[in-house]
Amino acid sequence: MRPLLITSDPEMLDDLLRIVAAVGAEADVAPDLAAARRIYGKAPLVLIGADIEAEDLRRAPPKRGGVVVVSRVHNDEAGWNLVYDVGAEHVIQLPTGELWLKERLTRALRAEPEGGKVVAVVGGRGGAGASVLAAALSVTAVREGRRTLLVDADPFGGGIDLLFGWEQEHGLRWPQLAEAGGRIDSDTLVGALPNRGDLVLLSCDRTDDGEGDRSPRLLPDVMQVVLSAGRAGRDLVVVDLPRHLDDAAECALRAADHALMVVTPGLRSTSAAARVAGAVMSHRDQLSIVLREPVSGRRRAAEVAKVLGLPLAGRVRTEPRLAAAMENGLPPGASPESNLAMLCARLLRESLS
Ligand SMILES: Nc1ncnc2c1ncn2[C@@H]1O[C@H](COP(=O)(O)OP(=O)(O)OP(=O)(O)O)[C@@H](O)[C@H]1O
Ligand SMILES: [Mg+2]
Repeated sequence: MRPLLITSDPEMLDDLLRIVAAVGAEADVAPDLAAARRIYGKAPLVLIGADIEAEDLRRAPPKRGGVVVVSRVHNDEAGWNLVYDVGAEHVIQLPTGELWLKERLTRALRAEPEGGKVVAVVGGRGGAGASVLAAALSVTAVREGRRTLLVDADPFGGGIDLLFGWEQEHGLRWPQLAEAGGRIDSDTLVGALPNRGDLVLLSCDRTDDGEGDRSPRLLPDVMQVVLSAGRAGRDLVVVDLPRHLDDAAECALRAADHALMVVTPGLRSTSAAARVAGAVMSHRDQLSIVLREPVSGRRRAAEVAKVLGLPLAGRVRTEPRLAAAMENGLPPGASPESNLAMLCARLLRESLS
């Protein structure tokens, strides 16, 4: 089992060969995508240098999983373009991403199972109920004995820790994690984040960095590290996404095994959801909808699903007492017999099987 390295940059090749050797393997090497075609589909993992030119893509092999773009430049635009073109799972930056790359190589070469599943949740409009569903999925998973990481990926969402009453809980939030960059490995991540029992939270926070930065943002390379650490150390990772997809959200969408969009009925909501779905589907093939409805009605749910052209994963009733319960520190999904919790239990059975 030899990973495939595709680069014509001698320094990049040296680095990749050294990293492959460090995990006790040897690699096949090709200078471009066309030359790699014969073995491209068979390698356990494909690493493509960001030096590979877009022109080569016309003769590129068919898309496959287990492809990582490797760059030396932070937020490398050429690297990201290549990710889209070849359908790669990540763009990783050297040297910061070296540890991640070694972990990924080790996993691919041992043909270990992928580990925990990643489920991403997005709202079809503002206030649709995506964060509530993400929290309820996590609470339900923990109740069923699954080790769970809930990742708040909405820097303008106010912090998902508030939904759990965990705002005073010690542990890292996104800004401190971003400072640590790619240097946090799977084991230390879980211990460093706020956690209780089987639930671990990576929340945004509400602090101003004091330097006048009013546009908090999450870094895609940190998201990559978090998701792969989550897969390695947890049974489930739930990502609560913003509707305006930033690089970190796109990274999570690409990595997720399942994506759910919470939609509310009505013309404007459905039109908004169609726009969000369009953006989501440029990063992945699968997206299912959860309809939150004020009143039950199968026909309406089926109609919304049909208009959006997406499969209906389930419906959830608006629970009048949910807001008050949350105010009292009871997270969504805490009551196992609630409509929301029962939906989550079914969604988890389906997405984790
Ligand atoms: N199943 C539900 N039953 C009752 N109320 C709900 C439900 N889901 C969401 N809500 C209400 O809608 C509000 C907004 O939900 P939530 O924060 O989950 O939406 P969102 O899609 O994440 O919104 P945003 O655009 O802010 O990210 C909640 O505070 C809650 O009051
Ligand atoms: Mg939200």
